Amino acid sequence: MTETGLQPETLDFDPAPVAPERDLMSKFDGLIAERQALIDTGVTDPFAIVMDQVKSPTQAVIAGRDTILLGTYNYMGMTFDPDVIAAGHAALDRFGSGTNGSRMLNGTFRDHMEAEAALRDFYGTSGAIVFSTGYMANLGMISTLVGKGEYVILDADSHASIYDGCKQGVAEIVRFRHNSVEDLDKRLGRLPKDAGKLVVLEGVYSMLGDIAPLKEMVAVAKKHGAMVLSDEAHSMGFYGPNGRGVYEDQGLEGEVDFVVGTFSKSVGTVGGFCVSNHPKFEAIRIACRAYIFTASLPPSVVATAAASIRKLMTAHDKRAQLWANARQLHGGLKAMGFRLGTEAPDSAIVAVILDDQEQAVAMWQGLLHAGVYVNMARPPATPAGTFLLRCSLCAEHSEAQLDAVLAMFRAAGEAVGAIG
Ligand SMILES: Cc1ncc(COP(=O)(O)O)c(C=O)c1O
Repeated sequence: MTETGLQPETLDFDPAPVAPERDLMSKFDGLIAERQALIDTGVTDPFAIVMDQVKSPTQAVIAGRDTILLGTYNYMGMTFDPDVIAAGHAALDRFGSGTNGSRMLNGTFRDHMEAEAALRDFYGTSGAIVFSTGYMANLGMISTLVGKGEYVILDADSHASIYDGCKQGVAEIVRFRHNSVEDLDKRLGRLPKDAGKLVVLEGVYSMLGDIAPLKEMVAVAKKHGAMVLSDEAHSMGFYGPNGRGVYEDQGLEGEVDFVVGTFSKSVGTVGGFCVSNHPKFEAIRIACRAYIFTASLPPSVVATAAASIRKLMTAHDKRAQLWANARQLHGGLKAMGFRLGTEAPDSAIVAVILDDQEQAVAMWQGLLHAGVYVNMARPPATPAGTFLLRCSLCAEHSEAQLDAVLAMFRAAGEAVGAIG
């Protein structure tokens, strides 16, 4: 008897010999073995941490222990803001939990319009489009803007969503050396003069926390007739006089054509967006697959985003506190002799560079046991094959918390030989 209940002899044809099934999952064997080897050494898997409870923007319970969070992108600490939470509750009560579909069909609610209005006010632009994540904003904008026979020029250390936006599109892809104005100029100079070109930059690069020389890069892009998109995911809220990002800080508001951002960092929820002053910007809504062919964000989420963005417009004290926190952590780690991703506290990310995976995992584990959770990052996500413990600061970290974190870094760093 077969599973269907048919006797094989009742079939009126000879089944053809079946080719052995090729297991498509076998390509992951190397990765599975590497992960297992790590787990077999007895360490906690750095990529499988579960938050049992989150008490505040800077404190969670992990494996039953109170733990300081030093790796979230909740830079401005908006996740527990009472006004933001109230806005989410009110939208949930009024509109329910879902959105019924794409932004184009059933899925645009009052609060999507509110979030886009808040973005236009925050950035001072004529246009704002909300996507379901920052990943999709990059994917959608890059693949839609640059077409066949055109060029997208990107920094070699670009975020995965930028690379994937290039792959999703049909334009020619040109990479330049990380943060090298000279290499950007050289590569743009080799392209056909009258072809469409988009240079994609990031204000802050998230692995090392270094910033881009946007002023020089935008000048070079404009010299070669290219449009510019800047991803300001890691600068929103605290860079520039209005918190718009590194591009605002460097005086480039009239020159950057498109700014991409996310709600998953300073805004404190989830979602992505692009803002622009381009008079035809609205056309993106009817041309962009990543906008059209996916469900929109729930009203509770966009309502929290709108409330948070409006509060960020006047969050001057939080901004000042975040920078003070970045200086305290960066200065403290530097004084202890740790190798850091940047010479100065250039952003809210402080990356500690370790010798190899073994040292990085041991130190990461030591820190977690002591009561602080940071992010471990390793190749291929990191530049130049580095192993990093990436710390990111929140405006809500207190001086005492950071003093405690520094003491934990000293003990863990000495234990693994990262500092003398
Ligand atoms: C530079 C950059 N762009 C885009 C994204 C994607 O944002 P989201 O988390 O909203 O998908 C990230 C996320 O980490 C990022 O670091």
